[in-house]
Amino acid sequence: MNHFEYRGGVLCCEDVSLSAIADAVGTPAYVYSSATIERHYEVFKSAFAPRDVLVAFAVKANANIAVINTLANKGAGADTVSQGEIERALTAGVPPERIIFSGVGKTEQELAFAVQTGVHEINIESVAELETLSRIAWALKKQPAIAIRVNPDVGAGGHAKITTGQSDAKFGVSPEQALALYARAHADKHLAPKGLAVHIGSQIRDLAPLEAAFKVVRGMVETLRGQGLSVERLDLGGGLGVPYFDEPDPPPPSEYAAIVHRVFGDLDVKLSFEPGRLIVANAGVLLSRVIRVQDRTRPILVVDAGMNDLLRPAMYEAFHDIKPVREPSAPAQRYDVVGPICETGDTFARDRSLAPLQEGDLIGFMTAGAYGATMASTYNARDLVPEVLVRGDQYKVVRRRWTLAEQIALETVPDWQTD
Ligand code: LLP
Repeated sequence: MNHFEYRGGVLCCEDVSLSAIADAVGTPAYVYSSATIERHYEVFKSAFAPRDVLVAFAVKANANIAVINTLANKGAGADTVSQGEIERALTAGVPPERIIFSGVGKTEQELAFAVQTGVHEINIESVAELETLSRIAWALKKQPAIAIRVNPDVGAGGHAKITTGQSDAKFGVSPEQALALYARAHADKHLAPKGLAVHIGSQIRDLAPLEAAFKVVRGMVETLRGQGLSVERLDLGGGLGVPYFDEPDPPPPSEYAAIVHRVFGDLDVKLSFEPGRLIVANAGVLLSRVIRVQDRTRPILVVDAGMNDLLRPAMYEAFHDIKPVREPSAPAQRYDVVGPICETGDTFARDRSLAPLQEGDLIGFMTAGAYGATMASTYNARDLVPEVLVRGDQYKVVRRRWTLAEQIALETVPDWQTD
């Protein structure tokens, strides 16, 4: 479900035409629908009702302050993996008690920042990290809430690069180690162990691996409680997939919630989730303009968005549907669609069936609201892509385009080169 549809022959985001945004803001630009973001959050959260769960939006999927704020206003928390993401979440109005701090490479400075901030929970990924955090907590005279991230040796996800739950992945500790670490954390007066965390992958289209991982966690809760250790919370991660094209829809949140209920329904424990893609992917498009059409046996559309703006096709062979902003009327033809970057990898689509397009026409890369702008760069000395948020008939540029002068101003030529 999303709020991008043709109205009067033009692709619109809610009540705003994408061509009006392109004319005013320029292209490429990301455009997000507030209504879609809010709807996805509500559908996910209410799937667990009457159980009250913490839905901590994975900021890595979309770190724009206005997007996070849209969710914070609905009561969402934030799942963060760096001090930068914690600061973004706080700036966007997410209270510390709804912020989860995850990630394998938290630095001492970042851990200290999270402890001082008083985040909801720090998810610990290794023995060494537990020791470091204990030392920091002692020095700061605090007792941070922690969970141990379990690696259940169940991998899942849409691509090898985004699978996290297999035993040779860098994430989490084995169930045996997690049990030992949890007991150790209980014995440490500087730490407040609250529970376990698990996340096995992203763009998951099959619920069976999730259920298998949850069962491992459930068994661990029983073991820990059997040892007299309290387990108050479980963080069940993110990962639910979204449809990127005309394929069978991934399981809806209601089916996912049914599995959660099946495995944990009788357990007195507070649940949290860290969905990213599910909330924002279909809430965003990358708006782009055709620069020119190269005349080949199969014509090549060269568009003004590049892999620096939307990395997913180059990095994961990801498929993004492409829609012309002007509603198609002529029969489709086949195109390759490429960006302007000097790499063959800068190819969005091969042999794609699209309505006839010409120089100057606008297109939208659909389902680009997750891991689009957050993974963008300035490669090839291009502008960092701007972002626009729509609500009803209003829109606002929520991250403006950096000027080249601003980028160049960050750089210095050493004295030895100019003397
Ligand atoms: N929690 C943890 C610990 C994670 O590692 C991730 C994603 C999430 C939550 C959110 O997962 P989601 O609900 O969005 O699937 N750049 C890749 C996706 C990388 C995901 C990494 N971890 C892409 O563009 O497909």
